[in-house]
Amino acid sequence: MLQNLPKKIKIVEVGPRDGFQNVKTFIPTDKKIAIIDGLIASGLKALEISSFVSPKAIPQMADAASVCAAVLNKYGDKIEASVLVPNLKGAQLAWEAGIREATCVISVSEAHNKTNVNRTHEESLQELARIKEGLPDLKMRVDLATVFACPFKGWVELEAVAAMVTKVAKLGIDKVVLCDTIGVATPDRVFNVAKSIATRFPKLNFSLHLHDTRGVGLVNTLAGMMAGITTYETAVGGLGGCPFAPGAAGNTATEDVVNMLADMGIETGVGMVSLLDVVKQVGSDVEADLTSHLSKAKIFECMMAK
Ligand code: COA
Ligand code: ZN
Repeated sequence: MLQNLPKKIKIVEVGPRDGFQNVKTFIPTDKKIAIIDGLIASGLKALEISSFVSPKAIPQMADAASVCAAVLNKYGDKIEASVLVPNLKGAQLAWEAGIREATCVISVSEAHNKTNVNRTHEESLQELARIKEGLPDLKMRVDLATVFACPFKGWVELEAVAAMVTKVAKLGIDKVVLCDTIGVATPDRVFNVAKSIATRFPKLNFSLHLHDTRGVGLVNTLAGMMAGITTYETAVGGLGGCPFAPGAAGNTATEDVVNMLADMGIETGVGMVSLLDVVKQVGSDVEADLTSHLSKAKIFECMMAK
């Protein structure tokens, strides 16, 4: 038996944000909401449900306010609904839509930060400071993009990650998501970065956001668990990818992670049977190829945890 693994893992479903943002054909708002309903019904309690970004940059997210209103109206604080915001404007719109938890994205690689949010590091940090000052009651976390590698500049140094964590922590951020934006990390890198950063910043809460571009999403998840990380951002169907990071494929799929953890006796609170129904729903309502293993595998009902 594998030793020293957490007994419980928190899954943050990012399909409706990271997943949908990479889908070219507009997904009608009611279909987005129905998929979120299905995800919640399967037991997922923490979800990134949209992003308040420029609709010129990502037209798919133009209905963020409507999605948030519908979801908050139905579930209120029974779930942790968060959104991505790149700037104060996005944070204000999210707050007006009733959102109380958001994530701001900053890339460790400045080249990617410029492409993604058209800001230098300094400008992004100033924007984050403005959000914290302007909306002190909006719970903010930071998605640190390109923690392992940048599509333009290659491998990222651990010291660059630590320097950025120090800067965001100084602004009062206590939750940081370590993102393998293009999905090139392998288990040793994930273990080393997660372990070193979590050890160096014991007061901060770190989670992992892994893309499965090269088929190592699950082993990277396991490596993160061995390093003590207990929160993972995953996307239903293996949807996902940053439109401003060439070569990025989908997130590690929620159903693949839940399937692995369920059989290992590690609790996620997610029911596989109902989650697989949502995978089917995504397959028919979203114009994207599902890349998860479970969306293609033969399902043996007799072997499935209820
Ligand atoms: N929501 C809606 N509209 C926004 C906005 C937001 N959060 N932020 C800016 N805008 C609008 C402005 O009002 C302006 O509109 P106008 O042209 O009609 O006047 C336009 O977008 C440009 O604003 P500006 O502040 O100059 O932004 P920019 O052109 O430098 O773009 C971002 C910066 C961050 C807004 C844009 O790059 C973006 O939204 N990127 C999305 C990044 C993303 O989601 N990546 C994937 C996830 S990691
Ligand atoms: Zn991502």
